[in-house]
Amino acid sequence: MSRTALVTGGSRGIGRSIALRLARDGVRVAVHYGGNEVAAKQTVDDIRAAGGDAFALGADLGAAGAVERLWSEYDVHADGLDILVNNAGTGKQQSLAEVTPDWFDRLFAVNAKAPFFLVQQGLSRLRDGGRIVNVGSGVTRVAFPQDIVYAMTKGALNTLTLALAKELGPRGITVNTVAPGIVETEMNGWLADPAAASAAAAYSAFGRIGQPDDIADVVAFFASGQARWITGQWIDVSGGSLL
Ligand SMILES: NC(=O)c1ccc[n+]([C@@H]2O[C@H](COP(=O)([O-])OP(=O)(O)OC[C@H]3O[C@@H](n4cnc5c(N)ncnc54)[C@H](OP(=O)(O)O)[C@@H]3O)[C@@H](O)[C@H]2O)c1
Repeated sequence: MSRTALVTGGSRGIGRSIALRLARDGVRVAVHYGGNEVAAKQTVDDIRAAGGDAFALGADLGAAGAVERLWSEYDVHADGLDILVNNAGTGKQQSLAEVTPDWFDRLFAVNAKAPFFLVQQGLSRLRDGGRIVNVGSGVTRVAFPQDIVYAMTKGALNTLTLALAKELGPRGITVNTVAPGIVETEMNGWLADPAAASAAAAYSAFGRIGQPDDIADVVAFFASGQARWITGQWIDVSGGSLL
């Protein structure tokens, strides 16, 4: 029987690459989106065109009741789950002085609270030997005051990874965090400025900006049987940024 994965934020960017890669590995993929149904359907179409199997499901993870709605819709399409990739995330640079309580709550709701409750309410579906991969960020390895609340949400995700790994180990479920550096996606629209792009590339030991596939390949490894003996870990996938 083929495995089934839920990739949150699978419609665009890093999540889209993860969905395509898992599908290439023979996994049936639930491609989740927040508001961009067109992008999610495009990802599903691309997976099917390549011979894979996928379906789309939408939920704004910042809205009340979103997790319950997401799992209800998931259950219509799939029976059980093997891989949960908590990838959906949001953020734009907001300094200490700029942050409002609403912005703080919104970021924590999408980036930290939603993954927590997706796991809590998804556990009855996740089969023994399953995988949880959280998409964190390199901004928890270095100080990043330019986006302080975003960094805090990713720190919460790291802590969730550690605690869940211990909790779910007896069921053979692994839980790990993959932490990208700067990746060329719509989240980083500022990379359109050549000077900014060149400065961003210089962060990496390899002198280039990360691409979504650079991250997806590592997520696919953690989702595979080959990573069965790794859990509770945080892995930097930033091309050696700021070493
Ligand atoms: N890009 C980077 O440099 C970078 C670096 C480190 C970590 N990350 C992390 O990597 C993950 C993916 O980022 P990305 O660069 O691929 O971003 P992106 O291109 O902006 O895509 C974000 C994805 O998350 C979904 N999403 C956003 N807000 C949502 C909400 N409120 N409810 C449900 N879904 C929502 C979007 O769905 P829609 O298509 O429906 O809007 C989209 O699929 C995030 O967790 C991000 O923090 C990114």
